Amino acid sequence: MSIKERYESLKNKVVNRKKEFDVFIAMFEKETSWLSSPASTKYHLNKEGGLLEHSVGVAETMLKLRETLTPEISEESCVIVGLLHDAGKIGMPGKPRYLKNDNEWEIKKRGMTYKINPEEVYMGLAARSLYLIAKYIPLSDSEAQAILYHDGQYVESNREVAHHEMPLTLLAHFADLWTAHILEEGRPVKEDADYYDKK
Ligand SMILES: [Fe+2]
Ligand SMILES: [Fe+2]
Repeated sequence: MSIKERYESLKNKVVNRKKEFDVFIAMFEKETSWLSSPASTKYHLNKEGGLLEHSVGVAETMLKLRETLTPEISEESCVIVGLLHDAGKIGMPGKPRYLKNDNEWEIKKRGMTYKINPEEVYMGLAARSLYLIAKYIPLSDSEAQAILYHDGQYVESNREVAHHEMPLTLLAHFADLWTAHILEEGRPVKEDADYYDKK
């Protein structure tokens, strides 16, 4: 299945808030770089469409975890949080966060295919995701927590929720890491401590 097909099938899982979700997605697809944005300047999926590929992957991983661990959480919650957790990476409507880099040296030496828009107003990415989504889609407290703290304890200021994460937040955090490192970067999955020692 192509990324687009996987994306469409995820969108169909939003049923209870379909009206609000559809309005948000229509705006997002038309007025922002959502469908073409990379996921980063130089790390994983720093290519056109990278953000959508990552977002679809995280939502799918969340759904798999949900099925095994917490079927009482709705698929809709997993799709809204998983698909949109990095929504802030688009920047703002009309003001994309990532611009194509024209600095040959940075591209060659640092692999920086994109650069950050110098006009962006600084804000944590997860906070921006929550800001963008909450203007359109009513969220439960757990969904808001999961979006805002999806980076878990990798972000120092997230200590304020340490040990108080809701199950949805844990699913989002783990799905994000698993998707980025194992599925996207292709880190081998094997019981071989050597591999990690040599890195
Ligand atoms: Fe993120
Ligand atoms: Fe992510």
